Parts: sequence; structure tokens; C-alpha cells
Amino acid sequence: MSRRRKIYEGKAKILYEGPEPGTIIQYFKDDATAFNAQKKGTINGKGVINNRVSEHVMTQLGHIGIPTHFIRRLNMREQLVRQVEIVPIEVIVRNVAAGSLSKRLGIEEGTPLPHTLLEYCYKDDALGDPLIAEEHIACFNWASDEEMRDISGLAIRINDFMSGMFAGIGIKLVDFKLEFGRLWDGDYSRIILADEISPDGCRLWDIETGEKLDKDRFRRDLGGEVEAYQEVARRLGLLPEEGGNTVLDMAKHRKKTQN
Ligand code: TMP
Repeated sequence: MSRRRKIYEGKAKILYEGPEPGTIIQYFKDDATAFNAQKKGTINGKGVINNRVSEHVMTQLGHIGIPTHFIRRLNMREQLVRQVEIVPIEVIVRNVAAGSLSKRLGIEEGTPLPHTLLEYCYKDDALGDPLIAEEHIACFNWASDEEMRDISGLAIRINDFMSGMFAGIGIKLVDFKLEFGRLWDGDYSRIILADEISPDGCRLWDIETGEKLDKDRFRRDLGGEVEAYQEVARRLGLLPEEGGNTVLDMAKHRKKTQN
């Protein structure tokens, strides 16, 4: 792993040069950050789980015709992906009000939205990934109108598929973040799904108990983040079933920290 040329180190992943031209190796770290890296920590085993969850979701999306950068998982923490030019926009897909939307507009967390809401943020850590309008994207040429049509169409299809996938395992897909890239072929490029899909970038609530099964456990100091990530992987069939009920364990944890 360390003999390969490092291309980029982000907050949760490291990118290495891949074995063939046009490929990249994504290494998933256990590091967790929130609020634009003002809060830092580690979630033990997170990288291993996110590697598996992202492999699973991207593979399933591939089966319904969504183009993704995923090629194959290499080992516990690494996957081979296509090299793309990342579009500098974070696409946030929301089904239920939560997080920054609730804060910004004063809408109570948990309020279902009348229809799926797409938001865009400009990918710039120094600026704190500010919320932007499609007009900014066109004005500063971050993506063409045609690319934005592809991106929004793909985001809605991904949301439809993932909402059903999670509902089938008793999880409500509240919101999530996507990144897209340009796959170049000579002078032409097409938009494909990039980055990762994991509990780091999704809000996932247990349908029955409302328990949070995602990075909000870390962001909000709820505890039980390792168990939450494991629970998602287990329900997706990616971890062996074990005795015990981690959702209940997390509820106990929450009670303890509230008292
Ligand atoms: P937000 O409510 O904080 O804007 O987050 C919306 C969704 O996007 C949530 O599922 C977390 C995810 N997200 C990221 O993955 N990375 C980020 O940098 C931010 C701000 C949000």
C-alpha cells in the first residue's frame, strides 16, 4: 500500500495511483471529521465497513444502469476505481428535513419533505463547502447545463433505488451526499458517480425506533458509532449476524449519556 504513489489524502480516504492508467486506489481510513474538520476523531473499523458498504451500493446501482467509478474491491480497506475529474460540487439529496436544512430554515428535524430536494454545495474546504444555487454553477462554469441535467437525473434515480434498498432493511434514508466525476474519452467526457456511499455521507434512521445509524452519532456525541456502522453493514448482509441488538444497545448508550 505505502509503496504506491500517493495522489491525494482527504479527511476519510487516501487516493493512490492505480495499477493501470486511468485507475485509482481508494484507501478508507478510520478517521472521522465533522463541521469542516473542526471536530476530529476515529471510529474503529469504519474504513473497513465503508469500503464494503460503498462496494455493495455502487455494485447494486451499476445493476440498474447507473454509471459509477467503482471497478472492484481489492482488500479490507481498498478498492479500485476509475480515475475521473471530480466535479467541484457536492450534491445533497433530502427526503426528510434534518441537519443544516433544519437549522437554516427552522424546519423541525424529521419533517418529511413534500418532494425530494436537491441542494448543491461548492467543494472547497477553505470556504467550508458553501451552499450554492444552480445559477452559481452556470455562472462560474463548474459544470455545464447538460452535465447538471445528467447529475440531477442520476441523483434522483440513485435516491429512488437507495430509499427502497434501505426501507427493505428497516432504515429510513433521510438524506445523503453524492459526488460526480467526468470520465474522459479523448475530447469527450461523461458524468459518472464517484467518491463513496456509506454511513459517513448519509443520514440513516431506524424506521421503528428512529435511532440514528450514521455519522450523526459522532457529530452529535451520541456514542455507539462503531455499533451503528456495523448495524448498517449487518442489515445489508455484509457482516455475519450476531447475537444482541445493537439498536437497543445504542438506545441504552443514549440514555446513559443523557443522565
Ligand atoms: P447537512 O445537513 O449537514 O447539510 O448534511 C446533509 C447530508 O450530507 C448528510 O447526510 C451528511 C452529508 N454530508 C457529507 O457527506 N459531507 C459534508 O461535508 C456535509 C456537509 C454533509
